[in-house]
Amino acid sequence: MADTDPPLVQISGVRKSFDAVHALQGVDLDIVGSEVTALLGDNGAGKSTLVRCLTGVHPPDAGEIRFRGEPIRLSSPDDARRLGIETVYQTLGLIEDLQVWQNLYLNRELTTGFGPFRVLDKKSMISSSKEILSKLDVNVPNVRATVRRMSGGQRQSISIARAANWGKTLVIMDEPTAALGVRETAAVEELIRRLRDSGVTVLLISHDMGQVTRVADTAYVLRRGRTAARRTVADTTGDELVGLITGAIEGDVHA
Ligand SMILES: Nc1ncnc2c1ncn2[C@@H]1O[C@H](COP(=O)(O)OP(=O)(O)OP(=O)(O)O)[C@@H](O)[C@H]1O
Ligand SMILES: [Mg+2]
Repeated sequence: MADTDPPLVQISGVRKSFDAVHALQGVDLDIVGSEVTALLGDNGAGKSTLVRCLTGVHPPDAGEIRFRGEPIRLSSPDDARRLGIETVYQTLGLIEDLQVWQNLYLNRELTTGFGPFRVLDKKSMISSSKEILSKLDVNVPNVRATVRRMSGGQRQSISIARAANWGKTLVIMDEPTAALGVRETAAVEELIRRLRDSGVTVLLISHDMGQVTRVADTAYVLRRGRTAARRTVADTTGDELVGLITGAIEGDVHA
């Protein structure tokens, strides 16, 4: 990417209220392409609301979102998907009783034939599912096993691999390792790094400062619906980030 290219996403002055609750009161944030940007903030700071503005769930009340330098209006999640923006939700969105490959192609099934002869192309979906998972080095031994039999880490990885496969541009993850053990967390962090190295841009919501310092390039801190600080991760510490989150350290977006 040339130095003169604008950031992939530029959010400026975004506001969003729910009746008397002013969830976002002026958020400014840039997401640079092929980087991992961490979005930090205490409970209720507005992180999930900002993500919903970016994925077309809640249109902002005010402010602007630019994508590759162009102002965009996202009126639905489909609008975001068309731009290659995908989200891995805390609930993962996997169906327990379906097999791994069926989850990877959920609502995006491949078909073969034409007109009334159109049928599901199960063979292609199974073989591409194997490819999608092996490309990202995801450890799922059998794509024909049901998700019910998968561990928490495998489920998280399947959900991320699915988002990365369809969200070629930006993958947003809301606390992807909140429910995972140490080894599974390490595997998911490795997957996030591989995604970034393959050119996918990641927006990562996390409450784990260790994780942020391990995988993120840039961190933004939201406090009470406003951007409180931006830090280059290599130039900060977990302690400073915690101070910015709690307000013990005064933020300065221009720092
Ligand atoms: N749909 C909604 N209707 C009313 N209030 C909402 C709605 N969504 C969020 N809020 C409020 O907006 C504020 C910001 O919430 P948000 O979910 O964005 O926080 P968060 O930073 O994601 O917190 P957490 O770390 O707990 O997930 C909170 O006060 C919340 O109660
Ligand atoms: Mg949230």
